[in-house]
Amino acid sequence: MAEMKSIGVVGSGQMGSGIAQLGAVHGLDVWLIDSDPLALSRAFKSISSSIQRLVSKAQLSQAAGTSALRRLQCTTNLEELCSADVIIEAIVESEDVKKKLFLELDKIAKSSAILASNTSSISITRLASVTSRPRQVIGMHFMNPPPIMKLVEIVRGADTSDETFNATKALAERFSKTVICSQDYSGFIVNRILMPMINEAFFTLYTGVATKEDIDTGMKLGTNHPMGPLQLADFIGLDVCLSIMKVLHAGLGDSKYAPCPLLVQYVDAGRLGRKCGIGVYDYRKPSPRL
Ligand code: NAI
Repeated sequence: MAEMKSIGVVGSGQMGSGIAQLGAVHGLDVWLIDSDPLALSRAFKSISSSIQRLVSKAQLSQAAGTSALRRLQCTTNLEELCSADVIIEAIVESEDVKKKLFLELDKIAKSSAILASNTSSISITRLASVTSRPRQVIGMHFMNPPPIMKLVEIVRGADTSDETFNATKALAERFSKTVICSQDYSGFIVNRILMPMINEAFFTLYTGVATKEDIDTGMKLGTNHPMGPLQLADFIGLDVCLSIMKVLHAGLGDSKYAPCPLLVQYVDAGRLGRKCGIGVYDYRKPSPRL
């Protein structure tokens, strides 16, 4: 495949905005799409200030920062993606919603375009099955926040071609990421291991074994994790964690993956984590010292 010149990113939340920033900073023309215009304007502001921080730390020249922002177009119109070389989907973690989008993208995207999903856990094979190009559908799972975290987990669906895999790997490497490759089973590598740990931390809190602060301090200082599991869950988004646990539970068929009732209750109450000001912790007050 010829070198990529342009990407589309659909979903301008925490992940999509970070992926769009990576593309623009690494010289690609980027279309960032969201169905919610407010989310798009928040994303543009957060990308601009993140690029400005890179410039002030001398990690990017002022000229490179300015041209990165010039390469970024934010729009609610999916049709703009008709000439993108690769489209990376980063919308809500729901199989039905993602399938609907892949169906639309398959009609809009040029025939050579790769359709990638940043899904944390959903089957790439099933997303590919609604398109006419399953060989060109792949998982490209960035870690949060995408500009900082060094890893991209690439997930091959049942029909993903070697050409698609190689082009996606080359794109991740252009972003200076280390690539790992997973087969297409629920949760892939990282979330298969991480989410049951986070879920267990919720059970530890739910059953009154310890306070949230002691659970997080225990895992930070006891196992050298940079963040405690409950703090990390708030950072990821409790809705995202719950969706992933449901996918693991349904896909792997073992009761050990059943989501903790406390995690379910927090999501039901709209306590989704940092992004909405309250999750396990309340960020509307001064941040907790962990
Ligand atoms: P988010 O909730 O911050 O952003 C999702 C965005 O998608 C929202 O702005 C929403 O308006 C938009 N959206 C929803 N449906 C849409 C549609 N049909 N068309 C266009 N835009 C639409 O979610 P976040 O955290 O960025 O996650 C996105 C994806 O990335 C999910 O699949 C998630 O599992 C995955 N992921 C999340 C990580 C995290 O730490 N939050 C880490 C790695 C992957």
